[in-house]
This record gives sequence, structure tokens and C-alpha cells, in this order.
Amino acid sequence: MNNPDINIIIIDREGETHKIEAPTDMAMNLMEVVRSYELAPEGTIGVCGGMAMCASCQCYVLSETELPEMQDDEEAMLSEAFYVKDNSRLGCQIQMTPEMEGLEVELAPES
Ligand code: FES
Repeated sequence: MNNPDINIIIIDREGETHKIEAPTDMAMNLMEVVRSYELAPEGTIGVCGGMAMCASCQCYVLSETELPEMQDDEEAMLSEAFYVKDNSRLGCQIQMTPEMEGLEVELAPES
């Protein structure tokens, strides 16, 4: 049997670590995974619906996972967001694919 799930780790804004299985066959992005597991209160993440326009889904990438390149809109949004670090990415721009196996991220503070 082909298991399309990947294992990822998400540290929530309270500092709690969650080991999560995320499906790779549902066209979900990381922000939607956080929402579906309710790891951040409703209304504090995914505010723009995944359009790279709000930065509420910002997270810090802790693993060495090779991520898709940042597109211009993501880069532009992060240049205006608060609490941005070198390893910041927008969760809504990271699709759940088999390559994301082992991904570990920490949610950025609410801004
Ligand atoms: S959900 Fe708005 S930038 Fe990701």
C-alpha cells in the first residue's frame, strides 16, 4: 500500500511540539495543515486565505528540508512582516509533497 502521508513537526505559538501526519494527495499547504489540526486559534492564521498577503501563516523552518524557492509575492510579504528571521517562510506557500517529509517548523508569533 502506498501511504501518501508525510511526517512533519510543528511547534505551536505556545512552544508545544506536535508530531503530525500530513496528506500529500489533497493539495494542502502547511497553513491549511496547521488549521486542520487547530494548532493556532481560528482567525490568527490563514487570514488572507493563502494568497501570500497577510503573513499570519509565517513560520520558521528548523529542519534542513529543501523547500520550494520563494516566489516574489512571498518575498515581498515577508519583507513587510513582523518577527521575520532568516528562516522565515509563509506556510501557505509550502505545499505538502513527499519531499517535505521530516519538515520541522515553528509558528511565528501572532502579529
Ligand atoms: S495565509 Fe496569508 S500569507 Fe499565508
